[in-house]
Amino acid sequence: MNKKEREKKVEALLSELTLEEKISMIHGSEFFKSPGVERLGIPPIVYSDGPMGVRNDFMPAEWKTIGTTADEVSYAPCNSAIAATWNRSLAWSSGRMLGEEARGRGKDMLLAPGINIKRNPLCGRNFEYMSEDPCLISELVVPLIEGIQESDVSACVKHFICNSQEAERYMVNVELSDRALQEIYLPGFEAAVRKAKSRAVMAAYNLIRGKHCCENKWLLNEQLRGTWKYDGLIVSDWGGNHNTKDAAESALDVEMGVKPDFDNYFMAQPLLKMVKNGEIDESFIDEKIRNILRFMLYIRMIDVEMNEVKTKGGKVIKAKAVPVEDRDRGCYATVGHMEKALETAREAVILLKNENGRLPINPKKTRKVLVIGDNANRRQANGGGSAEIKALFEITPLLGIAKAFGGNTEVKYTKGYYVPPKKTEEYNWQAESVNIEDVYQAVAQKKDTATDKKKGKALRDEAVRLAREYDEVIFVGGLDHDYDVEDHDRTDMKLPYGQDETISAVLAANPNTVIVMFAGSPVEMSKWADKAKAIIWMGYNGMEGGTALGEVITGAVNPSGKLPETLPVDFKSTPVSRFGDYPGRKLKKEESSRINAHLTQTFNEGVFVGYRYYEKYNVPVQFPFGHGLSYTSFKYSGLAVKNVEGKPVSKRKLTEGMYVVSVKVKNVGNCDGSEIVQFYVGEEVPSEENPIKELKGFDKVFLKPGEEKVVSVVLPLKAFAHYDEERSEWVMMKGKAKIYAASSSVDVRLEKTVKL
Ligand code: BGC
Repeated sequence: MNKKEREKKVEALLSELTLEEKISMIHGSEFFKSPGVERLGIPPIVYSDGPMGVRNDFMPAEWKTIGTTADEVSYAPCNSAIAATWNRSLAWSSGRMLGEEARGRGKDMLLAPGINIKRNPLCGRNFEYMSEDPCLISELVVPLIEGIQESDVSACVKHFICNSQEAERYMVNVELSDRALQEIYLPGFEAAVRKAKSRAVMAAYNLIRGKHCCENKWLLNEQLRGTWKYDGLIVSDWGGNHNTKDAAESALDVEMGVKPDFDNYFMAQPLLKMVKNGEIDESFIDEKIRNILRFMLYIRMIDVEMNEVKTKGGKVIKAKAVPVEDRDRGCYATVGHMEKALETAREAVILLKNENGRLPINPKKTRKVLVIGDNANRRQANGGGSAEIKALFEITPLLGIAKAFGGNTEVKYTKGYYVPPKKTEEYNWQAESVNIEDVYQAVAQKKDTATDKKKGKALRDEAVRLAREYDEVIFVGGLDHDYDVEDHDRTDMKLPYGQDETISAVLAANPNTVIVMFAGSPVEMSKWADKAKAIIWMGYNGMEGGTALGEVITGAVNPSGKLPETLPVDFKSTPVSRFGDYPGRKLKKEESSRINAHLTQTFNEGVFVGYRYYEKYNVPVQFPFGHGLSYTSFKYSGLAVKNVEGKPVSKRKLTEGMYVVSVKVKNVGNCDGSEIVQFYVGEEVPSEENPIKELKGFDKVFLKPGEEKVVSVVLPLKAFAHYDEERSEWVMMKGKAKIYAASSSVDVRLEKTVKL
């Protein structure tokens, strides 16, 4: 259907609707449904979280699950795991799987992916997000969304924008420079909307520049609809609205919430009243309906039939929505999806350290393996907030390790540290979540009671005793969804549950112990990282995460993931701590009268987020951005830079190609492996205001031993430009630029200087 036809259908159907019907369509009537109009065949829109699979079904107006087995689904690797693969085709297949599952469960919109910048290691939702780097996010979010939308279902990229902390998320106002916005925070969303054509965007809870994102005209009208010409649907985060007039007159289309008083939503009865009183023009509502109907046509929820009908006054067109019979029916909990989840999980494991070839461990030569740690034996899918799902199954690290070693090896498990029983509250956190007057509470490090400490010591002593007896010891710890969780941030980066003591004691007893950190956010490792010979990083890697871990440990799979974010030494060493006022400063008196917020969080570090900061300010990190080892090694040679042929550079758009950069990569070890080649760009002589280098392209290449391939990327003009705030435009770097071919942000293999 071409644009003209589509718009004609939209207008025809719009003209059939009464004001009451239109108002009913622009707000939730259930927690995960916004109504259609039966009279005209317009179906409701059915929404579902989320990023790691399609969430279980809730009662329409109660935060209780409906409690059947029909909502058991495939558990997909989280966005951080997808980002750790740096693999575009895995991003696509993960999206494809999520889209099929969503459609299979009868959903129209999947509330995913989340792509907020991992600005702050304490943010409770980091596990849902991809990276600290806009280039990596932009490159992966496009195939991910395209994959989802293959199934006549919509993605919903979220949370637009700058929702990089959970602390005070409903009432924190974010201030940042235009430059940081343009260079760091907007690009991922721009790629999602303009390249991947995400059919939906979710506006964030927080305020930006003094206005809540869900009713922010500058953000939604000017930036999204104006500059990016976005014609999809904009939905609020659940309970993200605060004012009827602002919401109605902004480009927001649908207001959703977590409270069951649907008629009282800002865009429900209060809006109807204001339109009837003439305080708000009906044309604002019509625009929202256009976006909703267009959305339905895009994802083939409906088609529109138009019939000429004779009336007394002549002929009129009568329009009616009809279902599209061959709309994709999707499929879920399939064997194919389990295989896809495993493929991604395999590439999401990151080998951080491997002194003297400590890994892999040959299962044939191993008789006794000891696995220590609560995270080894914990299922995680059903937690974390709205990303929770009812996983069909989840292979734990312990199961994965036991499977990988097989029946000739004894695999023994011991807890090693004490985790107090998890809360099993009856109520759902989401029901309480929008009590914005509540003073924000971070997830403080749980203070161990004397009994907890005693229990912890007994478990530690037992682990240490066993560690001396076993051939191989594998510790699996890190965080769980009490820490990687929506609506809360951590207070620091320390490992919970006394894990540092256990790891140090176990390493002293058996220095060969392999450490696996299972977490969705950085954790402090400095107390023991130097002593450990092998460290693996993984997170919520989906239903087959444990299988992939076992395969990597035993060498059946050669690890090929790389860090999509820096692992800093501690919170103190991060830019947020150094420059920031996290979780925010109190509003000044004058501000309180015009800004409906509790706190203001200023992104004082500007563009110096993640590695851009650590490199510029020479701050040591635990493990750098882009780092990840392999069981083989790769040699780089022949870095070449060629001009992209075609029209003169001065006539090209910023997004058009400028240089083709290529490098030869050879597998010089003795097993198959994949390398992620990273291309960074910086000024030859870095000026004070710019990062030393920034990721501008990458590719992943698979190589057999001895094999060599050429890896090449096209760098657009924009890769050599910065946003100039005074001129409000992108301006090319001055002088010469350096192009780096690197294996991580600190492991530069080759570099070349080019004249601009
Ligand atoms: C979260 C969203 C989620 C929505 C619906 C909100 O609390 O911030 O990411 O999609 O709830 O569950």
